[in-house]
Amino acid sequence: MSSSKIFITRNLPTNLDALRQIASVEVWPEREPPPYQVLLEKVKDIDGLLCLLTDQIDPHLMEVGANLKVISQMAVGYDNIDIPAATVRRLPVGHTPGVLTNATADLTWALLMAAARRVVEADQFTRSGQWTTWEPDLLLGPDVSGATLGIVGLGRIGQAVARRASGFDMKILYANRTPCSLEVEEALGAEFVELDDLLQKSDFVTIHTPLSEETRHLFGQAQFDQMKPTAILINTARGPIVDPEALYNALTNGQIAGAALDVTDPEPIPMDSALLSLSNLIVTPHIGSASRQARGKMADMAIANLLAGLKGDRLPHCVNPEVYQ
Ligand code: DGY
Repeated sequence: MSSSKIFITRNLPTNLDALRQIASVEVWPEREPPPYQVLLEKVKDIDGLLCLLTDQIDPHLMEVGANLKVISQMAVGYDNIDIPAATVRRLPVGHTPGVLTNATADLTWALLMAAARRVVEADQFTRSGQWTTWEPDLLLGPDVSGATLGIVGLGRIGQAVARRASGFDMKILYANRTPCSLEVEEALGAEFVELDDLLQKSDFVTIHTPLSEETRHLFGQAQFDQMKPTAILINTARGPIVDPEALYNALTNGQIAGAALDVTDPEPIPMDSALLSLSNLIVTPHIGSASRQARGKMADMAIANLLAGLKGDRLPHCVNPEVYQ
């Protein structure tokens, strides 16, 4: 392993000294990710790749990186990696679940509150000198307390959001591929419903499902048609789960009242996107897991996966454990 070569596709918020003692480590130093062609060059003779969700890891790249023993992604989501292609090559892929759950649930909550109480609009109102008096109907929004929250995807992050909602006495509905255990439902006070039902009944809808062919554009015109005109949509999962054109129409036609996105399709959102002209939309730059603690733990977990893969050990957090069968 001492002669192992590693490529890390960005500077990480952790110390790499221990890693450098046992492997030759190259870190891509730029703010932007390495272009695909550069990544292809880099993987030619490396044993381990530590990548981010901005890197496209496709079958061709795995073919070129014929010496790769492990791919370790610093993220819980891995839709940028062709997992079946890795599995066919018996190439373990690591990810970083758990350590970013609270940070992402916190940002979801911040966006939900900000969208409901129009915090961004209010700040802009103040800064632009429009605050000249107290007005009875200025910047009104809906109550969060006592409202109905629809959670699409009640996994780790969805459950952490539900725990926050219970502090606001919210009624919690959830839609999932399969219902959670009764224990989980009871602990969270969450009721399993079909997606259509959730859309029709919820005052706030928050998305926490992974991106897959099944969930791509899960939110399109037909879904917005069913939502309350007062509803607010939050997406901190993956941008392509929401059809951006349908969202624009829903926000401008009054099908829903507002939205807050931490993820967009494409990412970053183009500066000429019509969505950015809307005052009933908040957009943040994919910062769900961006607490210092969460990002540090994600980096450490990604390194632990990488080291295990280089040694030929089972990855502590492996996306495709079938490679060990
Ligand atoms: C993830 O981990 O998948 C988030 O989107 C980034 O932290």
